[in-house]
Amino acid sequence: MERPHLAAAQALIGQPGSRHLIPTPAAVLDLDAFEANLARMAERARRAGLALRPHAKSHKSAWIARKQMEAGAVGVCCAKLAEAEALAAEGVGAILVTSPVAGPANARRAARLAGQIPDFRIVVDHVDGVGELAATGAALQVLIDVDVGLGRTGVHDPDQAADVTRAILRHPNLTLLGVQAYGGHWQHVEGANSRAAYVADGMAKLAVVMAAVREAGGTTFIATGGGTGTFEADAAQGVLTEVQPGSYAFMDREYRDALGDDPDGAFRQALFVATTVISANHPKWVTVDAGLKSMSTDGPLPVLADPSLEGAAFRFFGDEHGMVSRAPRPPPPPRRPPRPDPRPHRPHHRPPRPPLGRPRRRPRSSDPGGCARGLAVAPTCAMLLFLFSPSPLPGAQRRGEERLASDLRGSRRRPHRPRAVSVRMGRCYATTGTWLLNKEAPSMQAAILRRRSPYRSGR
Ligand SMILES: Cc1ncc(COP(=O)(O)O)c(C=O)c1O
Repeated sequence: MERPHLAAAQALIGQPGSRHLIPTPAAVLDLDAFEANLARMAERARRAGLALRPHAKSHKSAWIARKQMEAGAVGVCCAKLAEAEALAAEGVGAILVTSPVAGPANARRAARLAGQIPDFRIVVDHVDGVGELAATGAALQVLIDVDVGLGRTGVHDPDQAADVTRAILRHPNLTLLGVQAYGGHWQHVEGANSRAAYVADGMAKLAVVMAAVREAGGTTFIATGGGTGTFEADAAQGVLTEVQPGSYAFMDREYRDALGDDPDGAFRQALFVATTVISANHPKWVTVDAGLKSMSTDGPLPVLADPSLEGAAFRFFGDEHGMVSRAPRPPPPPRRPPRPDPRPHRPHHRPPRPPLGRPRRRPRSSDPGGCARGLAVAPTCAMLLFLFSPSPLPGAQRRGEERLASDLRGSRRRPHRPRAVSVRMGRCYATTGTWLLNKEAPSMQAAILRRRSPYRSGR
């Protein structure tokens, strides 16, 4: 199927300044931040002596999976078979499916994957699931999923674990590798000590279940689990042999805020959404071309990413539209302790704020401009949102956008390196790395903008 927006974006690859011509809405990956995140997690795992198997559910990209493995990961995790199939088709050879599957048809899909890639693993949490996998006749590596409090999947007591172990051992085509335990409910808990307390409790439960598995004749050679928020605690507990962090690669704002300055939070936000102001006629807001269907909606509202545009707020304006308006300003801090007012109370009256996009004062040349000239709006759960001016741009607007562009490349903090264009020609990104939303591919919503998409088939 022809996809004009992808074709238009691909035509930009390698063109200087093309970042600002990207058809929007578009997810934009900041390669500097992304690569630093990958290197940092790989180094932490190396130092802790833990195998690293990042969860691919947040990126769903073979290209990123390969990057993670190049950085030292032993493989990746997938939440479902469709993700694993897409990654396997693109040559990712070591995959753990972290959810149990149900039904003979899905068991056969798992069996096909086991025949397709060198190292395929899948979790089970019930004797019925074991039976279905065994019935495929394929040689399959399995791990017992253990519920450490999340309640989503997993055996929840040692007896159940022993039953599942015995069921696995009855089938010679199944190889038990160990256990999996993921505590998703404690990943975002604020405070390293609080998270560590949860992890200690969960790992104590896991240790009991592991003992039951061994008593039933099974092995617990591998204990895999953990996420971005609990790396330190997981390493300190020493129960897991392998960690599965996923969010660290992009590091969404909500997660970052929860982890604060903890070492677990020392990852940079790397994924942004570019969008365009498509209408600036209303005096109080502008309308952009990214709405509910372009952004995560399972976290707080997107917020402005560019600090110079602080004070503007994003709201969803429908499936495909967003509204950017001035947010209510917090009251200024009092200069001296307020004295009690002896006069009778009168309602406070403030002059109305200037309308959005039409500043009262002339913008300074360094001013990246009002909302209509380009804004950066940021993440709900996994994304930042960049706003750019409509085109054609009036001169001042264009200067604002150029300024914004250089800010976004980080030129305020360090000299600009035109990474994708001249330094990284081989990579073929339009700018620092671009993702386009690809809603025709529902389970793989982002296609990475390269000469060849990892999800060409739009699974
Ligand atoms: C089973 C499993 N392991 C690991 C992860 C990754 O965790 P995080 O996103 O907290 O890094 C997830 C994410 O939800 C998961 O479901």
